Amino acid sequence: MSNDESELDALRRALNYDWPEIQKHLIEEGAKEAAEEDDEERDPYEPYWRTNPDGTRTLHMSFDSWWLKDFVREDVLLELPGVVIMNTKPWHTDSVCISLADAYGVGRVHECDDCFTEDDILAHIERFPEGQFAAQRISGPNAGNCVGMATTMRTSRPPTAPIRPWRHAIGDMTLSAHEPDGEWLYGVEMAVRPMYQGHGIGAGLYEARFDLARRLNLRGWYAVGMLMGYGIYADEMDVADYGAKVIARQLKDPTVTMQMNRGFRAERVITDYVDEPAAGNAGVLIVWENPDYEQDG
Ligand SMILES: CC(C)(COP(=O)(O)OP(=O)(O)OC[C@H]1O[C@@H](n2cnc3c(N)ncnc32)[C@H](O)[C@@H]1OP(=O)(O)O)[C@@H](O)C(=O)NCCC(=O)NCCS
Repeated sequence: MSNDESELDALRRALNYDWPEIQKHLIEEGAKEAAEEDDEERDPYEPYWRTNPDGTRTLHMSFDSWWLKDFVREDVLLELPGVVIMNTKPWHTDSVCISLADAYGVGRVHECDDCFTEDDILAHIERFPEGQFAAQRISGPNAGNCVGMATTMRTSRPPTAPIRPWRHAIGDMTLSAHEPDGEWLYGVEMAVRPMYQGHGIGAGLYEARFDLARRLNLRGWYAVGMLMGYGIYADEMDVADYGAKVIARQLKDPTVTMQMNRGFRAERVITDYVDEPAAGNAGVLIVWENPDYEQDG
């Protein structure tokens, strides 16, 4: 515990953050001890037999620690209770897809045309690793699995250019339209599993992306936030009117209002953006300009 850290913070850190490191330490020390006794090297993360003092043999397995081997503190971008935000790693892909399917209420990503598959996520990691984000549980029975995700790409098209439908804007499901030198960050996807929503994970995923835009000295970040709350108003008004009321803060939308509360400027309604019946296929163009952008930076 450092002098500036309260006891409560130290306890929180130990429970939520140091947990992977404590586990790693115990697993690796156990294997080292066994190697010294048996004079036989072993991979601490693979099951191994160890000879006991009475000659019997015990099988050692590090349950639930498949992800610990590759987990390093330096990869953590932001820490929340029991969850860390980091750039998406290959071991995250299946739980990222589960989070996506769960957030959009489909059984599996294959049942939804506009949901990324594991192969797509791997392609995004390859194309633009810093732009892919995972909210990963680091404690409890679900440790190692993701409960939220965000996908971004870079583009040279400013938000003042006509907004293209989502499929067109991203090129294809592997983000072939990503431009490595693009000066704008484009928000492609974001999802948090319903049972984890409302606890600041979405806000954490935003924070990590604002940081990225600053770090890359980008002009800013824009996206089309889907009007996910339209369904209950669908009989009363069309989606353009609903969107206008959300922008004017006369109505609260679970996704767009949340984005407006996170520092985005809501500009205008974009109809026929993506096939999402719950949102009447429409969203709102939301823009954040990077206050730290330097022209010659
Ligand atoms: C949009 C989405 C990603 C937000 O994720 P989230 O983790 O619920 O986001 P947050 O918890 O940060 O914020 C959501 C709301 O919960 C509130 N909240 C945050 N922390 C909270 C806490 N500890 N306790 C209670 N409420 C909290 C926030 O105040 C926020 O409401 P506000 O904007 O009125 O302030 C999520 O709802 C989702 O996956 N939706 C379905 C898919 C979707 O719409 N994706 C976006 C397409 S553009």
